[in-house]
Amino acid sequence: MDLVLLEKTLLGLFAAIIVAIVVSKLRGKKFKLPPGPIPVPIFGNWLQVGDDLNHRNLTDYAKKFGEIFLLRMGQRNLVVVSSPELAKDVLHTQGVEFGSRTRNVVFDIFTGKGQDMVFTVYGEHWRKMRRIMTVPFFTNKVVQQYRHGWEAEVARVVEDVKKNPESSTNGIVLRRRLQLMMYNNMYRIMFDYRFESEDDPLFNKLKALNGERSRLAQSFEYNYGDFIPILRPFLRGYLKICKEVKERRLQLFKDHFVDERKKLASATSMDSNSLKCAIDHILEAQQKGEINEDNVLYIVENINVAAIETTLWSIEWGIAELVNHPQVQRKLRQEIDTVLGPGVQVTEPDTHKLPYLQAVVKETLRLRMAVPLLVPHMNLNEAKLGGYDIPAESKILVNAWWLANNPENWRKPEEFRPERFLEEESKVDANGNDFRYLPFGVGRRSCPGIILALPILAITLGHLVQNFELLPPPGQSKIDTAEKGGQFSLQILKHSTIVLKPRSL
Ligand code: HEM
Repeated sequence: MDLVLLEKTLLGLFAAIIVAIVVSKLRGKKFKLPPGPIPVPIFGNWLQVGDDLNHRNLTDYAKKFGEIFLLRMGQRNLVVVSSPELAKDVLHTQGVEFGSRTRNVVFDIFTGKGQDMVFTVYGEHWRKMRRIMTVPFFTNKVVQQYRHGWEAEVARVVEDVKKNPESSTNGIVLRRRLQLMMYNNMYRIMFDYRFESEDDPLFNKLKALNGERSRLAQSFEYNYGDFIPILRPFLRGYLKICKEVKERRLQLFKDHFVDERKKLASATSMDSNSLKCAIDHILEAQQKGEINEDNVLYIVENINVAAIETTLWSIEWGIAELVNHPQVQRKLRQEIDTVLGPGVQVTEPDTHKLPYLQAVVKETLRLRMAVPLLVPHMNLNEAKLGGYDIPAESKILVNAWWLANNPENWRKPEEFRPERFLEEESKVDANGNDFRYLPFGVGRRSCPGIILALPILAITLGHLVQNFELLPPPGQSKIDTAEKGGQFSLQILKHSTIVLKPRSL
């Protein structure tokens, strides 16, 4: 390491210790902070709690410190909320106060310091972005315009699986094919575009860059530089890679999709009757001067991360649970056969007539919540919560997974039992009508994509179950459902091989 840098770092460290001690003394007098482990100067609680602040570890801290607790992660305050009442306070009652987002050094790069929608603070820019994105993405009209496309995409998955003899013998990693399906489901909406096959070079380039972006952003590797600013120089290499990935990714969105669509639009001189895809609406907003070209690209960026992977993880979890619970799978198949008749393929309107299918989707989202801590919230100004003072710009995590898996609130929550949503929890919906169950959040910053995600999940799981018997590979009785947590994501660790035996109808 360069000596000047080392000297500067040590000096900085010394100065920061003094400042931290003085500040903590002053703050100690002024604030009634939530409980939590005792912090040390500079590092706060970071050395005690480590990097992996996943939903399960945070649940353990909640059991120790209570339904609201504070962790000092270097310079950053992290407040974790673990009861339905406090979740209501954060997301609903004080939705404006806690409606901003924290970013960190890495998210700052990927979102151009909040020029997007998902990671921007609560205010004028967010309101404008959410308004502009609503008509092209988040209405029932969009569902009706694209549901035939989603049905066709999963029908193609079924066809491809049937063509592959491996799938009914040794099994295949179905996720790969489903990933193509999810890209097509969303790229149809965004650009009226679909990728022909898993070998499509553009698809592979896009998938690789999106994968890198997710890995770099969700990793815990960069925490040290984010929590302790004087260590940031050591993060230079990491941040450089983030910048490169971000540039290449936005360029790819622009060159291959946005500009192509612009050309097409000017060549065909679209009138108001032609069916527009989402980007046509977004470009109109740009032409009117409501947003700039960067905002357009960040909208594409947001959909790539917020929509595709989250839904894919949930589909993957749903399949894993169905493989491991053959009785649930049989019951679901029977419902579809009985209601629709054997061989009649599930459509979006059908999903409303299939309560057990809906319950399977809900139960998957409960037990295997893809975004278990929601997207971190933040209070721009000092605030009060649960009788405590919350310093300005604290990161607020709502442990939504624990709210939906706490045995004090649910009967045998560790069991995958869709029946609960037809029996004792029949009034609970995924839209946040019950603060114990918030897979999409609730309130101002809740997930607007719920309107697309729920039908896509139901159509996909429905088609797979009605066309195949889903089984673990030969010699295994179950597939591995170990979890992999990120900064705020929950994926299945292993993309398991599964056997798909076609049903003879
Ligand atoms: C199963 C699939 C999905 C799950 C579990 C999920 C979950 C979530 C959660 C928990 C949040 C944060 C809520 C909060 O912080 O309070 C969120 C935000 C968001 N989601 Fe989703 N989501 C899914 C699919 C989608 C889809 C398909 C789209 C778009 C087409 C989408 C777009 C967004 C956007 C734009 C936000 C940010 C909202 C804001 O900050 O105002 N999501 N999602």
